[in-house]
Amino acid sequence: MGTCWMQAIASLGSAHVVACGAVATQGRATTCHLLAVSGSTLTNQSAVRVSEQADFLSATSLASPERVVICFSDWQTVSAECRSLQASGDELVEAGNVTVDSGVTRYLSLSPVSSDRALLCLERQGPLGEQCMDRRLQCEYWAAAGECTINPKFMDSLCPHSCGVCTTVGLSQGRCHVLGVSETSIEAGPEVVVNDGITWNFAMARVESDTAIVCFSDSTRRDAARCRTVWGLREWLPLQARACTENASASCVP
Ligand SMILES: *[C@@H]1O[C@H](CO)[C@@H](O)[C@H](O)[C@H]1NC(C)=O
Ligand SMILES: *[C@@H]1O[C@H](CO)[C@@H](O)[C@H](O)[C@H]1NC(C)=O
Ligand SMILES: *[C@@H]1O[C@H](CO)[C@@H](O)[C@H](O)[C@H]1NC(C)=O
Repeated sequence: MGTCWMQAIASLGSAHVVACGAVATQGRATTCHLLAVSGSTLTNQSAVRVSEQADFLSATSLASPERVVICFSDWQTVSAECRSLQASGDELVEAGNVTVDSGVTRYLSLSPVSSDRALLCLERQGPLGEQCMDRRLQCEYWAAAGECTINPKFMDSLCPHSCGVCTTVGLSQGRCHVLGVSETSIEAGPEVVVNDGITWNFAMARVESDTAIVCFSDSTRRDAARCRTVWGLREWLPLQARACTENASASCVP
């Protein structure tokens, strides 16, 4: 119990739902609950702690093997983590974990692409030092509203990235990774850069067995919405997933 900060939910087979929540009043510690579904009744069966501190959460269901994948990251740690969860009787148990990407990651979103694969898209910040990270969700809004000049002392300490005081840093990127799930493990596979810029609010959908459309906001460009076609999702070779550089039109699909 406590103030829920972020939530994610996904079905696990026909009889269960996995509901995960980061609890603000417990330092954003994140727990996933196995809920049994029977008619209109939900019963809390068991729970597993997946993270001590999460600011971004996303979950998706996979059919074969029957798993829920949950990925999370926070404002401070380097890289996103994913867990594969399964039901074992009334217990929710971990069936693998993987660390994805090697920079400060934010705004992650998961979507299924096949019975045993999922697409994870996220923003990876450029090579920022700890000093140069934004520390509030609202930084980009505040910066756009002129707060960096109105209130520089506060803003430069909390929102150095959005206020552009880290002049030597690389640009943030939007990236997508294919995740593969087996009975006992979860692996991060091919990855692709879908955007150069501060990338957030991802939404993805598979459109063909091998292809997904990925849409996001780019706040480097006044939060313009952009979409990319990503393909190669069935391959398991790095660099096989690619993104169109321009419109997500039919010509983007090989
Ligand atoms: C749900 O069940 C788990 C395990 O039995 C328990 O730790 C947790 O407190 C329960 N949650 C609620 C809200 O009852
Ligand atoms: C991740 O999986 C490994 C085994 O593959 C296990 O030893 C480790 O405890 C797991 N880590 C977490 C944080 O669950
Ligand atoms: C993208 O699509 C829009 C609308 O169809 C069009 O106006 C624009 O020229 C296209 N951009 C490129 C680079 O093809």
